[in-house]
Amino acid sequence: MIEVEDLSHLKEAIVILEGLKVRASNTVGERYGFKKDKSLLSVFTCKEMDKIVDKIQKNKDFSIETDAYFFEIQAKRFVSFHFNPKKGLLIVNDLTEEKKLDEAKLDFVMAVSHELFTPLSASKANVFLLKDLEKDSEKLQILEKIERSLDKMETIIRQSKVLAMVQLGLYELKMESVSVKEILEKIFEDLRRKIESKKIKLKFLLEVDELETDRFVFYTILKNLISNAVKYSYPKSEVEVIVSKEKMTVKDQGIGIKEEERERIFERFYRGAEALKMAPGSGLGLSIVKHLCNMIGYKLEVKSRWLLGSEFTVRFR
Ligand SMILES: Nc1ncnc2c1ncn2[C@@H]1O[C@H](COP(=O)(O)OP(=O)(O)O)[C@@H](O)[C@H]1O
Ligand SMILES: [Mg+2]
Repeated sequence: MIEVEDLSHLKEAIVILEGLKVRASNTVGERYGFKKDKSLLSVFTCKEMDKIVDKIQKNKDFSIETDAYFFEIQAKRFVSFHFNPKKGLLIVNDLTEEKKLDEAKLDFVMAVSHELFTPLSASKANVFLLKDLEKDSEKLQILEKIERSLDKMETIIRQSKVLAMVQLGLYELKMESVSVKEILEKIFEDLRRKIESKKIKLKFLLEVDELETDRFVFYTILKNLISNAVKYSYPKSEVEVIVSKEKMTVKDQGIGIKEEERERIFERFYRGAEALKMAPGSGLGLSIVKHLCNMIGYKLEVKSRWLLGSEFTVRFR
């Protein structure tokens, strides 16, 4: 049996439950009101309360991050709940301070992205004007390089802003019936130049016409996955996209991902060592995909073999 006294040094509240009743708790837990014989319902409340009660009563494990109001301290805290039914153990971690810090960082990203757009647009317009006036081909080449760099900056700023918005919870999902074919055509159009220049054979397998989803989220996830598949494929290879009612898969025969890089590819700005040599990029695409999947409740899976190819699957659940 777990002795809660041994757990008093932990930052988390550790609560041992008997059904919905608190049997014991460490000191941190007591501070939040998890006191012996109290029902969970009289300790805290949150939006997911019904779900939490249901899972505990059915002895099912769960992990939830949410805002919860604790009656004992009369305050709302942002916490994670983990329930282990085998031991009847509820672990509550107060993440309020971390969240505040994260939000401050994100606020900064939002503000900077916003402020950078104006001077960036002005630079782009001026390069455009100069290109029109310039006859010297060497100078034109330099101007084109500047143009590409500015485009890349614009992409990074735009992507950082999307990421910050999603993480700050500012994006409101709008669920509607979306035509898969229409979205794929748009993505194909966006990526046409890259696909054609590398002579990539793009194969679509659509097992469903319409999906109930958020148009922007669905488009952004799929576009990033297909764009990566094309980018990290060898010329003339095949990229396969399968969309069904339950999931979508993007499969390529490209450079693949090294085992030791697998964990890191979803980090902001992370780019694989070989990927860096192969094509330009911001390292933000998969980070956006991950956050969008979390937001809409999709499950993201990766299978990949170094030098042989990768397969990204998104399960709609
Ligand atoms: N289909 C793929 N094949 C091989 N590597 C991939 C693939 N998709 C993503 N990666 C790896 O994950 C990294 C992060 O991807 P992403 O966030 O989209 O950034 P970017 O494409 O700008 O590098 C890439 O740099 C690459 O190393
Ligand atoms: Mg990418």
